[in-house]
Amino acid sequence: MAIVICVTNQKGGVGKTTTAVNLGYYLAKDKYHTLLIDFDPQGNATSGLGIEKTEIETGMVEVMLGQAKISDAVTHTKYKNLDVAPTTPELANAEVELVSRQKKFSILRNALVDVMDKYEYIIIDSPPSLSLLTVNGMIASNYLLLPVQTEFYALEGVAQLLGSMKLVRKSMNPNLQLLGVLATMYDKRTSLSAQVLTEIKKYFKEKTFETTIPRNVRIAEAPSHGVPVGEYDKFSKGSRAYKDLAREVELRTRGGKK
Ligand SMILES: Nc1ncnc2c1ncn2[C@@H]1O[C@H](COP(=O)(O)OP(=O)(O)OP(=O)(O)O)[C@@H](O)[C@H]1O
Ligand SMILES: [Mg+2]
Repeated sequence: MAIVICVTNQKGGVGKTTTAVNLGYYLAKDKYHTLLIDFDPQGNATSGLGIEKTEIETGMVEVMLGQAKISDAVTHTKYKNLDVAPTTPELANAEVELVSRQKKFSILRNALVDVMDKYEYIIIDSPPSLSLLTVNGMIASNYLLLPVQTEFYALEGVAQLLGSMKLVRKSMNPNLQLLGVLATMYDKRTSLSAQVLTEIKKYFKEKTFETTIPRNVRIAEAPSHGVPVGEYDKFSKGSRAYKDLAREVELRTRGGKK
C-alpha cells in the first residue's frame, strides 16, 4: 500500500513544487515506486519534469471530473520508478465545477484506490490555497509535509493550515499526521534565516526536519531544463539536501525498512 504525502502550504512560492518533485525523484532513485500527482492548476510539477502541458490528453482534470481513472492519467518519466499524473490549467475550472457536487472532498481519495497497490509513495503537490483541491489532497493522504520558507512572515497562515488539518482529521481522515516541517531557501549568511529556523523549531519541535534546504541557484535553474536538481547537478548543495530529505522521509514513514 502506498504511503501518501501531501506537500502543502497555502502560502505561495515557499518551495512546495520543488520539494514534491525532488523528494519524489530521490525516493524513486532509492528504489521506491513513486507517483507524483500534480494537483496545482499552475502545473509546475508537470513542466518541472519536462512534460509539455499542451501534449497532455488525460491528466488530473479528467480524473477529478470522473472521466478517467488515475492509472490512465499516469505518465512514466525518464527516471526509473518515477511516474507523474500531470495537470493542465483547466484544473482550476474543474475545481469550480466540483464545488456543487456531493462527496466533492473525497474525489481524490476514491480515485487513488486504483493505484494504491502500484506504488510505495504517492506525493501530491498542492496549490497555494486552502481550496477544494487542497482539502482533497489532505483527505487522500497519510501525511502532510509542510515546507516553510525561512523568510519574514514564514509562519503566517500556518495556524490556519493546522486548523484545516484538525478539521480534516475530525471529519474525514482521522489518520492524517504531520510528517514534518521543512525549512526551505535557507540562507546561512543571513541572521534572518537562522532566526526563522529557530522560530520553526520552537513551534514544531521534533516535527522539524533535520534537513534544511539551502537557497541554491541550481535548484531554481533545474525546472527551466525540465529536470529535477539531482539530474541537473547532482553534486550541488541543493540536490544533496533533497537526497537527505528523502532519507529522513523514509525513516519517518517506514523506520528505515525497505
Ligand atoms: N532552495 C531553493 N533555492 C533557490 N530557489 C528555490 C529554492 N526552492 C525553490 N526555489 C525557487 O523559488 C520559486 C518558488 O518555488 P516553488 O515553485 O517550489 O514554490 P511553490 O510553493 O510550489 O509555489 P506556488 O505556491 O506558486 O505553487 C521557484 O522559482 C523555485 O525554482
Ligand atoms: Mg507550486
